[in-house]
Amino acid sequence: MKKSLLITIDGPAGAGKSTVSRLLANKLSYTYLDTGALYRALAYRCIQEGLSATDKGGIANLCQRTGIVLQNKEGFLKVLADGEDVTDKIRTESISLQASAISAMPPVRAALLSIQREAGKAGGVVAEGRDMGTIVFPEADFKFFLEAGMNERIKRRHRELVIRGDAVQYQNVKRDLMMRDRQDREREIAPLKVPEGAFIVDSTHVSAEGVVETILSVIRKRQAFL
Ligand code: DC
Repeated sequence: MKKSLLITIDGPAGAGKSTVSRLLANKLSYTYLDTGALYRALAYRCIQEGLSATDKGGIANLCQRTGIVLQNKEGFLKVLADGEDVTDKIRTESISLQASAISAMPPVRAALLSIQREAGKAGGVVAEGRDMGTIVFPEADFKFFLEAGMNERIKRRHRELVIRGDAVQYQNVKRDLMMRDRQDREREIAPLKVPEGAFIVDSTHVSAEGVVETILSVIRKRQAFL
């Protein structure tokens, strides 16, 4: 397989993007680019500074002075916000909601765009997010859109939070996931949608390993013609 492919994986929360992207990147010895972590790190800094998601001026200002860095070390991804390691702190439900809310703001997306493009420019990357194939990397070699049924997505997200030690109610996970879906799909800039030329993969009844196999077979098949 060509070493420097740029592969994008978009999709809603709970569709299995992170697990699949990490596995795929490992299999190919590629870099895993978790762009949601960038939005989460900025959301973390917003909350730390007591900025509400409606404070456009305050958030625009924060974007200008906050340094977000993604570090990939031997397959492990570290996220730094102004030098602070926030890797584990950004996975909570309150950060998910704040990240979704601020990600609709133009200064937030503008601040994170160059970091993402820089990280992907050399290829050899599996880039995961909501606008990878549409806005950030429209010229990607391969684009995938991961879907899963709503009930399955809620179950997965709930399980993920419980495993992390978060005693969150199933009904609350459902409410938050539906709200985030609406925000991410209906925002004016870079809404979540299937990118042109993307392969849609439904993971409702398929394991992450199975999805990775499907993705690899699509890539191998198409590469044979290149
Ligand atoms: O993928 P995630 O759940 O970690 O992302 C958290 C939020 O960040 C998501 O609800 C919307 C936003 N996001 C985005 O707008 N664009 C991306 N490329 C990645 C995430």
